[in-house]
Amino acid sequence: MEVYNLSYDEAPVIKTELPGPRSRIALNEQDMLETQSRTYTRAFKLAVDNARGSTVMDLDGNIFIDWFAGISVLNLGHNNPIVRHAIEEQLEKIVHINEVPTEARINFLKTLNSVLPKELKDHARTMFTVTGADACEAAISLARHVSGKKTIVAFGGSYHGVAGDIVGATANYHYRDYAGISPRDIYHLPFPYPYRFPVNVPEGDISKVVIEQLEYIIRDPAAGPGSIGGVLVEPVQGEGGYIVPPDDFLPMLREVTEKYSIPLIFDEVQSGMGRTGKIWASEHYNVSPDIMCISKSVGGGIPASMISYRADYDRDLPAGFHLGTYRANPLALAAGTAILNYLKTSGILDRVTSKGRYIKKRFEEMAGKNPFIGDVRGLGYMIAAELVRDKNTREPATEMANTMKETLFRHGLLMLTCGHYGNVMRYIAPLTIEDHIIESGLDVFSESLDEVSKKMK
Ligand SMILES: Cc1ncc(COP(=O)(O)O)c(C=O)c1O
Repeated sequence: MEVYNLSYDEAPVIKTELPGPRSRIALNEQDMLETQSRTYTRAFKLAVDNARGSTVMDLDGNIFIDWFAGISVLNLGHNNPIVRHAIEEQLEKIVHINEVPTEARINFLKTLNSVLPKELKDHARTMFTVTGADACEAAISLARHVSGKKTIVAFGGSYHGVAGDIVGATANYHYRDYAGISPRDIYHLPFPYPYRFPVNVPEGDISKVVIEQLEYIIRDPAAGPGSIGGVLVEPVQGEGGYIVPPDDFLPMLREVTEKYSIPLIFDEVQSGMGRTGKIWASEHYNVSPDIMCISKSVGGGIPASMISYRADYDRDLPAGFHLGTYRANPLALAAGTAILNYLKTSGILDRVTSKGRYIKKRFEEMAGKNPFIGDVRGLGYMIAAELVRDKNTREPATEMANTMKETLFRHGLLMLTCGHYGNVMRYIAPLTIEDHIIESGLDVFSESLDEVSKKMK
């Protein structure tokens, strides 16, 4: 089945004012019916009719290049025949049943087990959940249960979702303030973010500084945070700014958590499913977690999430340890099996690695000529260009990033921001994006950057 050449070839095509007349009506109607707390419609003023590959058509026939893939939910692109076929076949059989085995469920579990990181591969147990946040929530509950200890160590800049207890692990305090709660039994250490590490040490020592602090709070009962029952980390940070830690960080984290028998949880909700050029970002570091959180692209657009964990953690888990009516939707699992098999066998990951290097190089070239791109980083198709007002002070250029997002949109490119200060432009296109669509997108980015830079004071 052809998974490339699905996009609208001519993208981007902007033929009306934005929003176009039909989009404007739909947006106004949405305003009257839906919550004002929506986020994405603040930047992207369009109503969508359909989407193909790495392109999206609005109700007025304008065609946009999609560089955000539903925040990595659509790693094989929109309307991919492999995913569609799997869902359609399953639709004929059954669309919901609670927990009892189906062919879709068993096939998925076997396929997932065959691609897990080396220590989990072929002997993990999986617990289905519903959303990314729910998976992270289940993961910290399991870590606490297994260790018999309460405090979970998470990292600055982390995003693990906005729900229940897990919002306490999500580092940005705004989400907790909105909910009017304080974090419970969570302690944040700085993530090894070379461009903005809070301690002035040589880059080569950053991991060591974080790990020594972790070991101190584990070892010393009077250090403050409490008894450490788990460490939760994104192997490559997503919402925090597409931050790739130094190569020694995850191996050191593994070593210290093993030494003290503390469950190590990898949140691969955004970085997994091929996004970085390997099925899991942690494979770049050859490190396996004890518990892994999986979601987004695993359902191919149908909500799905799960944790996979060491079989010995399963020993005395009571029935109903973690629950949710909608867990393991058969349509999502059928899609997930097809997607995992495709990632495993098609060679697409090699393409993401080489193309990702090329795209990163193109951003670096732009950074060389532009005073406002302070840092370019990334792995595979998880690439960041961090905007600053001044390359020496590294003052975040948040407004510029917002203006970039709006300008790119006007020129037909959908791109999101992220980062501690919302000043990071992130490339997170479908892994199937065609060469000529990449080039068109880079042209739009480069021209928009020039346009916005001219207006910077
Ligand atoms: C790394 C990571 N973990 C967890 C989540 C939460 O997932 P959800 O929005 O499905 O709850 C996200 C969402 O972006 C994420 O990027």
